Amino acid sequence: MVVRSSNDSDRQTDIAMTRASRRSKKRTQILKRNLKIRAKRRSSNESQATISPKLKNYWLQRYSLFSRYDEGIKMDDEGWFSVTPEEIAIHHAQRSVAGGVVVDCFAGMGGNSIQFAALGYHVVAVDIDPKKVEMALNNTKIYGVDNYIDFIVGDFLQLAPCLKGNVAFLSPPWGGPSYKKTENFTLDLLKPVDGHTLFQVAQTITPNIIMFLPRNVDVCQVEELSWLSSPPLNVEIEENYVRGFLKGITAYFGKTAYWGVTQETSSAHIREV
Ligand SMILES: C[S@@+](CC[C@H](N)C(=O)[O-])C[C@H]1O[C@@H](n2cnc3c(N)ncnc32)[C@H](O)[C@@H]1O
Repeated sequence: MVVRSSNDSDRQTDIAMTRASRRSKKRTQILKRNLKIRAKRRSSNESQATISPKLKNYWLQRYSLFSRYDEGIKMDDEGWFSVTPEEIAIHHAQRSVAGGVVVDCFAGMGGNSIQFAALGYHVVAVDIDPKKVEMALNNTKIYGVDNYIDFIVGDFLQLAPCLKGNVAFLSPPWGGPSYKKTENFTLDLLKPVDGHTLFQVAQTITPNIIMFLPRNVDVCQVEELSWLSSPPLNVEIEENYVRGFLKGITAYFGKTAYWGVTQETSSAHIREV
């Protein structure tokens, strides 16, 4: 027969209680995790339900646009097809070597502004649409970079002479998804004005200009933009891919061009990124 002292039985009770409380803690943790997963699924289904069918393909790529999409990213219809994919926006920010202050001249949903700010640049973000600026501000808060960005609601073409910066980043509207149907996208198709005018306006801020353009843009025309300066600006042109798909073309001018290629030496260097 085993005789237990009262101390022994107290200890047994303690052990049993600890086990029970551990089990109940674990159950609560599992319950909480399941609730979180269900809430995430519900909000994902709800946001899918509010997306119009023509935007469904963009919605399916939501995490390549904003990896933190599920934390409350906001986008309007134009934003869905015009935001810079996150991977490319990170790359643009890494290439803003002349940075300090970056003017994001067409800020949209904040895709580029977020990544410039995340790398420590101060950003002046301009967009003509106050609702987009509201959404962009919300998105910058999700990434915790809102303190590094000054938003301005206004027309970039009018504001440019008053703006100062070390880099001007241009991601102008490409005229909607129909840009894909054009074989050779000439610079006059850019909005709100043709690419030459846009470039000249940006030059009032700085010669260090980065332009994000459609994948079918006329590259010779882009290269010729550097001739608008005397002596011609250095220029570098690269193709931007996401998971093997060509998403756009980026032109770097002035100090943002790595290769220092001038018009006398050769045509612009075109790289795949
Ligand atoms: C291609 S989107 C920019 C996308 C942005 N890079 C992003 O990642 O979200 C172009 C933006 O230019 C804005 N826009 C159009 N005309 C403008 C103007 N004159 N001045 C400033 N913004 C303008 C549009 O409202 C739109 O949000």
